[in-house]
Amino acid sequence: MQKFYGQGHKATYIPALNNVNAQQFALTLIDKEGHIFSVGDDKVCFSIQSVSKVISLTMALNEVGEELWGRMDREPSGKAFDSLIHLEENNGIPSNPFLNSGAIVMADVLLEIYGDHTVDKYLHLMRRITGNETLQIDDKIYKSEKFNGHKNYAFANYIKSYGNIYNDVEDVLDVYFKFCSLSLTNLDLTKAFYYLMNKGQSLEGFQVTTPRHCKRINSLMFTCGTYNEVGDFAYLVGLPVKSSVSGAIAGCLPGAYTVSVWSPELNEKGNSYLGFKALEQLTTELDSSYLS
Ligand code: DON
Repeated sequence: MQKFYGQGHKATYIPALNNVNAQQFALTLIDKEGHIFSVGDDKVCFSIQSVSKVISLTMALNEVGEELWGRMDREPSGKAFDSLIHLEENNGIPSNPFLNSGAIVMADVLLEIYGDHTVDKYLHLMRRITGNETLQIDDKIYKSEKFNGHKNYAFANYIKSYGNIYNDVEDVLDVYFKFCSLSLTNLDLTKAFYYLMNKGQSLEGFQVTTPRHCKRINSLMFTCGTYNEVGDFAYLVGLPVKSSVSGAIAGCLPGAYTVSVWSPELNEKGNSYLGFKALEQLTTELDSSYLS
């Protein structure tokens, strides 16, 4: 395994993300029948980061349905997850829910509905779909996100200046940072994503969302889930997936399997270097991908 490390770099813009051993790798696959195939560091905890945007989107679609698209678009931006350019061009309307700007607006949507219970609702859902009652927000990561989240403060204030954030910026970002700071293992993450493969139903038979929402979330992961490397992911991996700066990539082949990889070293586009390679090899060797 050693020879594969050292080709990417850990995210350092959130100092707490740097406190992780970079030379780790896990891959877990769960098939439709619930069989678990898992290798590597699959029981090591990491923060979910941007993969949480898939869960926010699920919760937001469940609550407000198509109304969500009055507050954000669903187009790939072709830009980094923390680029401000489109936001200015689009008058405070994020290009898609998987950019930081989109996730911040979703945090506002959820805060409107659940108020002070928003983070509890998220934790409850995550515990239910992973079957892991011990899941928690990692306070060190949360604080590190908050004290170094200057760009996210800029996004939130900028969006609010256009009236597309209704709540207090501090409260909205608190939700956003806490969602990103959930600590879980690669095994947990793969279980959590089972509903996206299974028409909205979790591994333990709970209907997380509708089959229609599921289809839409998968479409958005396919078109917007891996920052400005989404074309290469579609071409080389061919699965709907969502990545994060902690080095996680989670996705599924609808009706067949759900899969997650985690390895903290990132490539120049901010996606897990080894995670990307592993998924490419997996879908090639299994000869199974989204559109084939
Ligand atoms: O907002 C941030 O900077 C992180 N908490 C999440 C970033 C991430 O994983 C990349 N996002 N698409």
